[in-house]
Amino acid sequence: MMKLRSIELALPKAAEAHRWMIDIWGCADGGRMGDTFYLRGSGTFPYLMAISESADNFVRSTTFVCSPERLAQVAQAATARGLNAAPCVSSDPGGGHGIVVELAEGELLRFLVDATEVAPIEGHSKASRRVMPVKLTHVVFNSADAEASGDIVEEVLGFRVSDRTKGMVFVRCNEAHHSTAFARAGFSSLNHVAFEMEDLDAVMRGIGNMRDHGFAPAWGPGRHGPGDNVYAYYIAPFGPVIEYSTPVEKVAPDYRTGEPDDWTWPEKRIDQWGVSDKDFAGLRVAEEAFRFRREWQPAPINEVIGA
Ligand SMILES: [Fe+2]
Repeated sequence: MMKLRSIELALPKAAEAHRWMIDIWGCADGGRMGDTFYLRGSGTFPYLMAISESADNFVRSTTFVCSPERLAQVAQAATARGLNAAPCVSSDPGGGHGIVVELAEGELLRFLVDATEVAPIEGHSKASRRVMPVKLTHVVFNSADAEASGDIVEEVLGFRVSDRTKGMVFVRCNEAHHSTAFARAGFSSLNHVAFEMEDLDAVMRGIGNMRDHGFAPAWGPGRHGPGDNVYAYYIAPFGPVIEYSTPVEKVAPDYRTGEPDDWTWPEKRIDQWGVSDKDFAGLRVAEEAFRFRREWQPAPINEVIGA
């Protein structure tokens, strides 16, 4: 078992960002511990995004929850590959313990076991007009070498590449077409964080709610090729690119890995619908704003795998 759970960010004015994500974006309050503010969705994860107060922007980690068997496999492969890693005990809501691993371009992935879940939030129906994400569907990174990043997550994490396009290497860790992807950007950073909405209607109501508050999408609405999800991307006032998305399609274990030639568009098109423009320059600036920063010292993770 392997599931994407949360992302942990650090940035200035964390309390303001937290408030905006609740009042405007639609997340529920996941509480506060010290200088870290938490945001949850309507699903069973105790939080989806952590925002820690910091003098500057950076990504602390992206967290997956998994079975002890999968944790042992990742720990063993990370050790064999010689990646920076360390055992960790989570002090975030939900607790849990496991390892944190640094990939080749500095991406910091945390794998937890024994993390608890919470009761889902019900009643934010169409009638209530409340827009609330359910969970994260994917976290995408920019890469200097996206192919190498795809290779390393297959080898070390046991993830599978679902599709390669001209721009991206899409990777899955379970039946969802992608839980992460590596953009062929030429530099390493956070590309975007995608919040899963219940359905297409919830994405559209989210766009309407954002419009009520004076925010227009930087890209969308549209429907992607790989993953087949409906999307709307925004540049959050506190920096990162965030997305409303429908669930990405589920694929079978024998899904044929697509290549760039399988995912071409007619001229001037970059999605299935072609109804909206993309603010390439604005998105690029926002994507460069969040790099990875390792706040821990590498340490042996042998005890995690019982070696
Ligand atoms: Fe996305």
